[in-house]
Amino acid sequence: MSFTFTTMTLNLVLLMAMVATNILSLYHLSSTLQSPKSPKPPPPVPDQLLHQLHTIRATINHLTRLQNINNPTKKSTIPSDLLLYSHLSPIASSCHNHPELLHKYMTYTPFSLCPSDSDLAESLILRGCHPLPRRRCFSKTPQKQIPPNSLPKNPFPSSLPNNAVIWDHYQCKSFDCLNKQNPNLGFQPSRDISRFNSYKTDLDLPIQQLFQIAAAAKSVLRLGLDVGGGTGSFAAAMRLRNVTVVTTTMNVAAPNSEAVALRGLVPLHMPLQQRLPLFDGVLDLVRCGRAVNRWIPLTVMEFLLLDVDRVLRGGGYLWVDHFFSKGVDLEKVYAPLIGKLGYKKVKWATGNKTDAGGVKNGEVYLTALLQKPVSR
Ligand SMILES: *[C@@H]1O[C@H](CO)[C@@H](O)[C@H](O)[C@H]1NC(C)=O
Ligand SMILES: *[C@@H]1O[C@H](CO)[C@@H](O)[C@H](O)[C@H]1NC(C)=O
Repeated sequence: MSFTFTTMTLNLVLLMAMVATNILSLYHLSSTLQSPKSPKPPPPVPDQLLHQLHTIRATINHLTRLQNINNPTKKSTIPSDLLLYSHLSPIASSCHNHPELLHKYMTYTPFSLCPSDSDLAESLILRGCHPLPRRRCFSKTPQKQIPPNSLPKNPFPSSLPNNAVIWDHYQCKSFDCLNKQNPNLGFQPSRDISRFNSYKTDLDLPIQQLFQIAAAAKSVLRLGLDVGGGTGSFAAAMRLRNVTVVTTTMNVAAPNSEAVALRGLVPLHMPLQQRLPLFDGVLDLVRCGRAVNRWIPLTVMEFLLLDVDRVLRGGGYLWVDHFFSKGVDLEKVYAPLIGKLGYKKVKWATGNKTDAGGVKNGEVYLTALLQKPVSR
């Protein structure tokens, strides 16, 4: 597959997605206005809506003209994979691709308690419908107040308070249960205390070493982001070193966000395909853990990497931690993709993924520490 596309084309796709979103919201607004519930004739469409509609039409005309100027012969030069991405775009345009979910989600009474449907919200977000459109109800809180003394003081407590979570939608009804199901997910945080300090294979990068590398390069690590960071153990380990790390995490099948927050860390509830809610060039470090792997559509992966590049400062580090893919894809697809960032390879280690799935699919791991050029 080719990654080549022009910035122009990309801009066009994103603009179109934005226009589509606007049309969608206009549609929503106007269909609300013409709701058949009221026997009265619908009120006139406000002027500013008409004005917006006019602007959108003008934009579409302009874009269509632009496209025709660019490709007088071909029908469209937008690569199909980019069009696919536009469905996964972070501008909420993908909400309309799942009308049944959206309809269910948007059925609620304003100014009352929201329906208890965090699983539905999770499904919509994972399908690219984010930010979620529901704005006018109160989200449910857990029944009991958490006694302040049951909140852990350090980010690696031996247990987390159960009554801080609404368990309705989970099979497990306690952190203990989650921990029994899979002790590696960090629901008993104390188990993770040495996770980022150990060196068992070349695929590991102990935090101590990370700091040495940064110090040797006269680079400061103060602020970071952990992409797909589960229960926040990396942020916790960095907290002990006085580094602030925020963690993006989803609540798929487990209350990851609550677990991160109970450790006194910041969870960002966002899927991998969403633009990072951070300004350009503000972070010293971004870590991509195992959530970033070959299961992500390639286009999304490419956007993710470019967005990570956007938020990293010059000289900042990207740590790809145990990324896995098929061996041949690493060589032919992912390594070239990472190479396009133009980062300095401080560390680049690969190794066979030796669990059952890894052996069956010929998968390999990559752990890389990459430094963004100081200036561009
Ligand atoms: C973190 O900050 C605290 C309070 O300022 C200080 O006592 C501690 O030594 C610092 N830890 C590290 C690893 O720098
Ligand atoms: C990794 O796996 C490949 C085949 O899948 C094998 O040829 C190679 O020897 C393995 N490497 C190591 C270091 O085990």
